[in-house]
Amino acid sequence: MTTQELIRTAFAAREKAYAPYSRFTVGAALEAKDGRVFTGCNIENASFGPTICAERTAVAKAVSEGHTDFVRIAIWGEGKDYCMPCGACRQMLYEFAPDLTLLVAGQDHSFVKLTLRELLPHGFGPKSLSQSE
Ligand code: THU
Repeated sequence: MTTQELIRTAFAAREKAYAPYSRFTVGAALEAKDGRVFTGCNIENASFGPTICAERTAVAKAVSEGHTDFVRIAIWGEGKDYCMPCGACRQMLYEFAPDLTLLVAGQDHSFVKLTLRELLPHGFGPKSLSQSE
């Protein structure tokens, strides 16, 4: 998939967002190493806390289908500024893909390209749990 196709897929995914409280819709398109793309949207809840972001929805869909090798994620969100992934999403992505590339898209589908290591330097991941010696 080209960069613009991945961004368009994220943009389309936001149509399914369930965001009656914030009215801030977000879509994500997570690309696995084998080329398969998993989409996600934000899903809010009247109890606010259980709300899940678009990025984590995409990760949950991919992992539950046996995919844990990710190379890129495109994110499209409302608002005039680029919708940067929240801390919880950065952490969840880091678990599977510390070297992930992020394409964070704006309203006009222009985008900034970032790495997860830039957004979450010195992250805590599976290796952090390995015992010393
Ligand atoms: N949201 C996402 O889906 N992804 C982000 O990276 C930031 C925030 C959602 C959560 C909530 O439904 C709405 O945007 C407002 O915070």
